[in-house]
Amino acid sequence: MWLMTDFAQPARRTFMCASAAIGSAALLTACGDGHSEAQTPDAKDIPTPSGEGQVLMKAADLPVGSRAAAPAKHPNGEKAAVLLFRKDEKTVLAYSNKCTHQGCAVSPKSDKNDFYCACHGSRYEPKDGTVLAGPAKAALTRYAAEIKGKDIVVYVTDES
Ligand code: FES
Repeated sequence: MWLMTDFAQPARRTFMCASAAIGSAALLTACGDGHSEAQTPDAKDIPTPSGEGQVLMKAADLPVGSRAAAPAKHPNGEKAAVLLFRKDEKTVLAYSNKCTHQGCAVSPKSDKNDFYCACHGSRYEPKDGTVLAGPAKAALTRYAAEIKGKDIVVYVTDES
């Protein structure tokens, strides 16, 4: 089942697939396998966890190799989706869904096991957020994320 959720701004619309209710409000996506292990030099650093972490979904609802988008509160007060990728049993990676080309919402909905921006076709690697296909040139902004107990906790920071 495909769903589209509109958070606060049109530029942050997010497509979701294989949705499931998480807690009382969150929806998620689980969309297939990822790519190889290598992280390119263009990948942005994962920041150190700081501030208040947010539980975005249950770890059990994001199988290894799956991608998702879940709504989160941002420091500026906006509510916008965070992209998630379950790298392995113990590791979840989190990214801003703001396309580095012109700011459209990047989605986990893709037929190529990547994160995809439908505005102009940019594609990003789920394992490090780097650009697989332009016109975007810069990697996605990363957030610290961890699996705490049964939850996926993400530390959303300002865009950098
Ligand atoms: S805004 Fe994403 S490809 Fe142009």
